[in-house]
Amino acid sequence: MKKLIIINGPNLNLLGKREPNIYGSLSFTEFLEEIKGKYQNVQIDYFQSNIEGEIIDKLHEVGFSYDGVILNAAAYTHTSVGIGDAVKAIETPVVEVHISNTFNREEFRHQSFISPNARGVILGFGLQSYELAIQSF
Ligand code: DQA
Repeated sequence: MKKLIIINGPNLNLLGKREPNIYGSLSFTEFLEEIKGKYQNVQIDYFQSNIEGEIIDKLHEVGFSYDGVILNAAAYTHTSVGIGDAVKAIETPVVEVHISNTFNREEFRHQSFISPNARGVILGFGLQSYELAIQSF
């Protein structure tokens, strides 16, 4: 069975409550249950943190044994050299995802420290972005 992990960055614990016009009204826990039911042939672990170093630690922990990481580093995408370097350092392929289309938003969201080292990038499909990432493994 393939082992994947979804890693969500800052403020994504508020999904469902946070700016629902951009991010939708489903909580991530509800969504996770739904996709775990749908993809029973893959192990889908989940980790969320609002703390940059914890995301880096988790990437190190899973990055030499898992088959794939699905990473939404949220705001850290645009600021974190450290998370970008961690993605480069590990062996497990990382698919970068975003719920919104970051390219039709503010200019500062157009930069990503993850993309150059990601296997691919999926963005703008709402929570379906995560599902498309699962399908890519
Ligand atoms: C996001 C886009 C980021 O720019 C933003 O900071 C987020 C969420 C997305 O999934 O659309 O927190 O990563």
